[in-house]
Amino acid sequence: MEIRPATLDDIVAITEVHKGDVPDWYRGFGDSSVPAPYETLSVFERYMAGGPWMSVETCAIHVNQLLLHDLPPIVVVADGQVVAEAEFYIGEEGAPYGKTLDISVLYVHPQAQGKGIGGALLTYLVDRAERKECRCITVVPGPRGFYQHYGFSEIYERPHLLVNARKTNLAYAIAEIDVETPWKVVTGLPMPIGRYTSSRQEWERHKMITYHLPELATCLHRRVRITTEQAEAVAILGQHSPFDDALVAHAWTANMPVNELVSILRNECIVSGYNRLRMLIDEEIVHTPLTCEPVERDSSTCMVRWLQPPLR
Ligand SMILES: CC(C)(COP(=O)(O)OP(=O)(O)OC[C@H]1O[C@@H](n2cnc3c(N)ncnc32)[C@H](O)[C@@H]1OP(=O)(O)O)[C@@H](O)C(=O)NCCC(=O)NCCS
Repeated sequence: MEIRPATLDDIVAITEVHKGDVPDWYRGFGDSSVPAPYETLSVFERYMAGGPWMSVETCAIHVNQLLLHDLPPIVVVADGQVVAEAEFYIGEEGAPYGKTLDISVLYVHPQAQGKGIGGALLTYLVDRAERKECRCITVVPGPRGFYQHYGFSEIYERPHLLVNARKTNLAYAIAEIDVETPWKVVTGLPMPIGRYTSSRQEWERHKMITYHLPELATCLHRRVRITTEQAEAVAILGQHSPFDDALVAHAWTANMPVNELVSILRNECIVSGYNRLRMLIDEEIVHTPLTCEPVERDSSTCMVRWLQPPLR
C-alpha cells in the first residue's frame, strides 16, 4: 500500500472512488427526477448528486484548486489502483482550536473497506498534523465509531438553523470584499456562524467555487465587512443551490455580539432579495442563546482529537 499526495493524473481514479458512494443516479431534480444511467447525466446533475467528485470535469477543477493552494489531497494506492482519498485544510483560528488540521474528506471505495486502508490514511493525516505542530485535528464525521477508535471525541452538536429574513433598526455599515481576498483576513478570528468544517476551508471553499456551470451562475455570492459603532465582522452570504430561496451565512468576528450579527445578516437577506437565512451556529463557543425563532432546526456533530491542550 502506498500513501501519497495526489496529482492531476489521479483524477479519473479519485472520481471512481467517490462514485462508489452513490448507489443510484437520477436525471432531473426533486419530484420530477427519474432513474438514469450515469453516462447520460449532465455535469450539473452529477454535481448535485454528490459534489465535484462526481465528474472528472469538476473533480479536476476542484483538485487543481487544492493543489494550487498547497493543500494536496492524499490518495492510497493498493495493487496499482487508487482506492481511497482524503482532503484536509490547515488553518489558524480562535479558541479553543488554534492551529487546526481539518479533515474535509476521508473516503475508502466500498470494495476496499475493512482492510486497514482508512486507518492508515487517518494515521498519515495525524502524523502530518503533528509535524505541522497543529493543536488539534477536527472532522465532521461520517461514521463516528471509526474516529472514536482513533482517539477523537465528540466536541459538540451544532444547530443548523433556517430563519426568516427580517429588517433591523441596528445602525451598521457594510462594504463588499473582493472574492480573491486571501484567508489571512479571517486568520485567528473566532467563527461563531457557519463553521461546518474549519474556518480556513469555509473561506477558501467559497472562493474555489469556480465551475462554469450556467445553472450555478445565478447563485448570489457576497463577501462583506460589517461595521457597527463598537464592533466589526467579516461575512460570506451565498446561495448554495439554484433550488434554494435562502442565503447561507458564514461569519467571523472578535467582538460583535452574535445576536447583533444575526440581525444584520437577516437584514442583508432582504437587501439581496432572499426570504430566508440558513446558518450553523456555534452556540457552545459563543454562549449566546439566539433570540430568533428558527423555521427549521437540524444539527451536525464536530469531532476533535487534541494533540496539544485546547486554547482558552
Ligand atoms: C470509515 C472508513 C473511512 C473506514 O475505512 P476502512 O478502510 O474501512 O477501515 P479500516 O479497515 O482501516 O479500519 C481501521 C480500524 O477502524 C475500525 N473501524 C472501521 N470502521 C469503523 C466504524 N464505522 N466504527 C468503529 N470502528 C471502525 C476497524 O474495526 C479497524 O479496527 P482495528 O484497528 O482494531 O482493526 C470507510 O469505511 C469509509 O470510507 N466509509 C465511508 C466514509 C464516509 O461516509 N465518509 C463521508 C465523510 S467525508
